[in-house]
Amino acid sequence: MKVIVVKNLEDAYFQSGNTIINHLRNSQANSIGFATGATMVPVYKFLTESLRKYNLSNIRTFNLDEYIGLSNQHPLSYAYYMYEHLFNQLSFDQSNINLLDGSAGNIEKEAQNYEMKISLGGGIDLQLLGVGRNGHIGFNEPGSKFDSVTRVVNLANITVKTNSKFFHNSNEVPRAAITMGIGTILRAKKLLVVATGKEKAIACKKMINEVPTVLCPASAIQTHSNVTVVLDQSAASLL
Ligand code: GLP
Repeated sequence: MKVIVVKNLEDAYFQSGNTIINHLRNSQANSIGFATGATMVPVYKFLTESLRKYNLSNIRTFNLDEYIGLSNQHPLSYAYYMYEHLFNQLSFDQSNINLLDGSAGNIEKEAQNYEMKISLGGGIDLQLLGVGRNGHIGFNEPGSKFDSVTRVVNLANITVKTNSKFFHNSNEVPRAAITMGIGTILRAKKLLVVATGKEKAIACKKMINEVPTVLCPASAIQTHSNVTVVLDQSAASLL
């Protein structure tokens, strides 16, 4: 695992953004897995500025997760987030964008189809990951098995509480989500994890320094052979 600790937030976004850009430019990459969350907003801003003229029409994208019950038109859905922060500004081909539909009638089928779509295209070349305060990746909460696949999950109380800042009131926050599994994530050829801020410090310590355990889903990355982690000094303060 390559851990890069940078001195401030700006450097974290620059480092992460450039890792993605170099991957797109220098490899035969044809697919990328995107994450959402506040951490990724400035990373995507950097990408939209740097890749404006870049042809991305052959790149297939897969998003990590989505809230159950929010349609992709809902302003707080992760689908909406992706269009707002990335897809609307860049040249991805609409038919290559793969998002989980949290409002699908048959949500189990939606999860199975997503796994199939990922496999059929040859897997994900680079998977971008944020980290939850409780060490979740995607919406794989503590207790998720390392070989889990795309499925419906209940959100941990701390996740509902943390994400409620985006909703008008906490009753509106979905209590369930559909997420790629940890096993799905680990099948990506390369992982890029980005975490910033002191509230991520404990999760980052467990993710990097402690024995992997299902109690910290992010610690599963230790079992992957090609991982880059970008942290600012606050997130890295307990390493
Ligand atoms: C969210 C998402 C994750 C994200 C993580 C960190 O709940 N499900 O995909 O990476 O938690 O979010 P943030 O960057 O807002 O701290």
